[in-house]
Amino acid sequence: MIFYFSATGNCQHVATRIATATNDEIFSMTDGLKNDLPRFQIKPDEAIGIVAPTYFIGLPTLVRDFLASLELITEQKPYTYFVATHGTTCGNTGAMVNDVMAAKGFPLDARYSIKMPDTWTPIFDLTDQAKMKKINDKADLLIDAVIDQIKHKAHGDMMKHKTPGFLARRYYRSYDKQRTTNHFHVEDSCVGCGLCAKQCPVDAIAMQNGKPVWIKEQCVMCLGCLHRCPKFSIQYGQNTKKHGQYRHPNIQES
Ligand SMILES: Cc1cc2nc3c(=O)[nH]c(=O)nc-3n(C[C@H](O)[C@H](O)[C@H](O)COP(=O)(O)O)c2cc1C
Ligand code: SF4
Ligand code: SF4
Repeated sequence: MIFYFSATGNCQHVATRIATATNDEIFSMTDGLKNDLPRFQIKPDEAIGIVAPTYFIGLPTLVRDFLASLELITEQKPYTYFVATHGTTCGNTGAMVNDVMAAKGFPLDARYSIKMPDTWTPIFDLTDQAKMKKINDKADLLIDAVIDQIKHKAHGDMMKHKTPGFLARRYYRSYDKQRTTNHFHVEDSCVGCGLCAKQCPVDAIAMQNGKPVWIKEQCVMCLGCLHRCPKFSIQYGQNTKKHGQYRHPNIQES
């Protein structure tokens, strides 16, 4: 079973490719939390995979919440691995996942990382399509290598571009401020389709008078609403408009 969280498709693409190659199945952490489904019976010889993006050099709050609630029913310790996707650094995510999984009796056997387009568009510019394709093509080669290691049940920390724990922990504290929803604004181009409210993983958006309104002070800040709006009407601060929208090319469904 491969548990994944993905706002813009990178992790869904990684999880899907691993599942296809290893004859496994994928399960969305968002669905698990929304439908209160934390218990999983793991078959003998089945591996446990966790695939998640890096946020502020640590884990998205949703991933933390899902892993904290996760209950695995097994007869023996399964091969357990984590794959982080990231744009620049996977930070301290391996240690964060290992801490929570080890406390449940499932320490990570292997840790991997894949560099992909960085969806934090308040800073990063994703408008150069050729550059994005190049990054995703390179990522696919890295995924091939990770699949090979997973098939051989490789052990060890194979993560690249990490950040030392003490620095990562300090930077991760800024996530709390950045995930305040009053950073968002909606432009007049919004047609009131309601997709943003429907797709928000933590129901932080409600439609009021035909426009999205953030009804929670904080959210996961996955930027799924911004990147998937059909009119690109949702913006965060001043820079996101010029930095463009992104979804992984293989995961285009709304
Ligand atoms: C709120 C937020 C914070 C992010 N922080 C980091 C980071 O600290 N380091 C990094 O390399 N990438 C960071 N990213 C980029 C994502 O980890 C990366 O683009 C990931 O592949 C997105 O996965 P997804 O498409 O499955 O949602 C961040 C993205 C978001 C939305
Ligand atoms: S997805 Fe975009 S167009 Fe649709 S309601 Fe939300 S902001 Fe408006
Ligand atoms: S409001 Fe937007 S950024 Fe925040 S969790 Fe929902 S979809 Fe993600």
